Amino acid sequence: MKYNQLIIYYFSGTGNARNAASWIINVAKEKGLKTQLINIDRFESIEIPELTEKTLIGFCFPTHGFNMPPLVIKFIRNFPKLKNNDVFILNTRGGLKLSKLFIPGLSGLAQFLPALILRLKGFRIVGMQPLDLPSNWLILHPGLRKKVVDSIYQRCEAIVEKFALRILNGGKNYKAFLSLPFDIAVFPIAFGYYFFGRFFLAKTLLQPMHAIIAMYAF
Ligand SMILES: Cc1cc2nc3c(=O)[nH]c(=O)nc-3n(C[C@H](O)[C@H](O)[C@H](O)COP(=O)(O)O)c2cc1C
Repeated sequence: MKYNQLIIYYFSGTGNARNAASWIINVAKEKGLKTQLINIDRFESIEIPELTEKTLIGFCFPTHGFNMPPLVIKFIRNFPKLKNNDVFILNTRGGLKLSKLFIPGLSGLAQFLPALILRLKGFRIVGMQPLDLPSNWLILHPGLRKKVVDSIYQRCEAIVEKFALRILNGGKNYKAFLSLPFDIAVFPIAFGYYFFGRFFLAKTLLQPMHAIIAMYAF
């Protein structure tokens, strides 16, 4: 077997990236691999468990403003150079569903930037998988109905299982390239969001709470 250990570092705002990471961990456990799922949301120093060449490393995180969330950028930038290790990148995007049609989100830089940084650090990139879990970018659309969320989740779980089996069996998967022209088109927006937009758009999940507090306060 190509790998005997899987370590996934994840960051998740509303649980999508954590669920995707857990699905991959479950497939790895079934195949008898030693696994670790590490939450990086409050990282101060980067925790690297004991590694061998047979360790596969994964990074799972949501897409924010057509990029990685700033904390993930910082984490991957500071990740040590570990030669001879394989890595995969899975970014969850904002998926929607219109009637029977699943509408994908858009990664922008969220796959290609970490792939470039990790490649420059000496890693081999074996998987680049975007995953269209339910969108939580609630400034752009109303919240999704439970039926829609369930159906998106069912679809994504099957995609992740296939992805995990392929990678863990020593294969490669570069699904991120399918949306490359669209991702390149939004690169300028990704930069604009990183330097300006996130300071007001990223807080929008809190707005309903502000509205409730305001209702009771006045
Ligand atoms: C502030 C903000 C920005 C977002 N930007 C994007 C984006 O650029 N592209 C996209 O496909 N989804 C975007 N989303 C949607 C999330 O990436 C998506 O819902 C993801 O699955 C959430 O994962 P999580 O539950 O692990 O946080 C955004 C969400 C928020 C809250």
